[in-house]
Amino acid sequence: MTRILNLQPSVVLVLVTVLGAIIYRSLKSFFIRRQFARAHGCEPVAKAMNKDPFFGLDTIPRTLRLIKENRIIASTPDFFRRFGNTHTFQGVSSFQILTIEPENIKTVLSLNFKDYGLNFRLPSFKPLLGEGIFDTDGEQWASSRALIRPSFTRDQVADLTMLENLIQDFFALLPSDDETVDLQDLFFRYTIDSATEFLFGQSVGTLKKTESEPVFAEAFYKAQQSILTRGIPFPLKLLFSHDEAQEHNDFCRTFVRQFVDEAFEAVELKKTETETPESETQRTRFIFSHELAARTTDRTRVLDELMNVLLAGRDTTASLLSNLFFKLAKNPAMWDKLRREVAFLEGRPPTYSELNNLKYVQCCMNESLRLHPVVPRNQRKALRNTVLPVGGGKDGLSPVFVPEGAFVSYNVYAMHRRTDIYGPDAEEFRPERWEDGKLQPRWGYLPFNGGPRICIGQRYALTEAGYVLVRMVQRFRAMESRDSGEWEESRGITVTSKNGTKVALTAE
Ligand code: HEM
Ligand SMILES: *[C@@H]1O[C@H](CO)[C@@H](O)[C@H](O)[C@H]1NC(C)=O
Ligand SMILES: *[C@@H]1O[C@H](CO)[C@@H](O)[C@H](O)[C@H]1NC(C)=O
Repeated sequence: MTRILNLQPSVVLVLVTVLGAIIYRSLKSFFIRRQFARAHGCEPVAKAMNKDPFFGLDTIPRTLRLIKENRIIASTPDFFRRFGNTHTFQGVSSFQILTIEPENIKTVLSLNFKDYGLNFRLPSFKPLLGEGIFDTDGEQWASSRALIRPSFTRDQVADLTMLENLIQDFFALLPSDDETVDLQDLFFRYTIDSATEFLFGQSVGTLKKTESEPVFAEAFYKAQQSILTRGIPFPLKLLFSHDEAQEHNDFCRTFVRQFVDEAFEAVELKKTETETPESETQRTRFIFSHELAARTTDRTRVLDELMNVLLAGRDTTASLLSNLFFKLAKNPAMWDKLRREVAFLEGRPPTYSELNNLKYVQCCMNESLRLHPVVPRNQRKALRNTVLPVGGGKDGLSPVFVPEGAFVSYNVYAMHRRTDIYGPDAEEFRPERWEDGKLQPRWGYLPFNGGPRICIGQRYALTEAGYVLVRMVQRFRAMESRDSGEWEESRGITVTSKNGTKVALTAE
């Protein structure tokens, strides 16, 4: 053997030692894992989604077909029916445990929070977002969260004056009678205007620019698309290219950097002005970037956090509105019911507490987020050997061993359509199911995530979406769908209606 390959005995010795060490280490980790799994009463997960046990290559044609049919998310409840509420998937570069069990999700996101991480997303997100609350773990994440959190108090998210000003811009773009309009496009403009006003103190004003090009919004959209292509697993990735990504990322970050600089100047200015005490009446307007600049001296950190929050908050809220209006347009009786609910306001804007007390408005938002959760699935990577409470064994009732490095993927979209949680009509849009307050699925309902990383902007989002809904209901007697088909998903960072939200509105 040595003579055939013409190797020196010393080289052979090194090879044998290295090989021996590798075998020893895998055996050792095998036994440690087996012992760990046994000690926790784990049973193997009964079914795997892939037939090819090493790379899962057999699933690729199906995945490509589902992408083409725009059913990649919509097809998932069926997979859980076929392979069980917890099943596995061996991909080319990762082993996944897929689950729609509330108990498992609670364990990952809350009970055993420290066993899991998500900074595997950093390589995809970093070119646009830098390092911030959305793409880091551990101490770094905790310090981001601590920096941002104080800026999400009730007063700050309830700036209805700002929302009202934007609504007027929004209304100005709506045809008043019978003409078809795509509300989705306008909702995305509404939320980027409001998010930039909230974060930077100055709106990019896309609703005002009807003719000229919304430059930042466009670049931000493209930059987000390339986050997705960077995240596609290896062989499929070759089908997508992202040549211009760098350009869009740079453009967006340079654009936002102006506001960071401006924020630090404002903070400096304020320091020199301390001799004139602020009275209640002339209290300065809340601006997120200024708040961050007052709490840290690190400009890149402020820039990164602004990018992170912009990404987290903008498309999500616009998608909720698009999906909600898509369904309402197909259900005129719901529109009538909403009109009866807001009638007591006699056309004036609601206050913050009035808005929160509009029961049916809240039910409609809950129901849209149930049927079309805008973050439909998510995953965490195990940082050490750990355990899920259910999903193992033939009956799926035993604990499941999660080896270090494995992914737990939880599918909120499919969980929200479980008939054992929501009843036989789980696939239907029926806001009434929330009305009597008895439906409390806890970890079975998770549009905003849960545990220490629960969405920080939940209040903000529901205030904004609820406000837009109420003002629209007050202004238009009827809304009719101009989409012939059923709701179809789009492929993006959030899930929204592929055909947009085409409607015709009838004014008062
Ligand atoms: C309907 C609208 C929204 C939905 C459905 C939503 C949903 C979510 C979900 C599912 C997560 C967890 C993401 C993950 O862990 O991978 C999240 C996190 C987050 N959301 Fe939202 N969100 C919405 C609006 C907003 C808004 C308006 C803001 C800010 C203005 C915001 C800020 C954040 C931030 C900063 C995080 C990261 C929290 C952390 O990791 O500690 N979100 N959101
Ligand atoms: C909406 O869902 C949340 C979370 O389950 C629940 O606490 C709340 O009561 C629901 N709202 C309504 C109006 O049913
Ligand atoms: C989307 O548009 C296509 C083509 O215009 C149409 O065939 C389909 O039915 C539409 N889908 C929805 C959800 O309206």
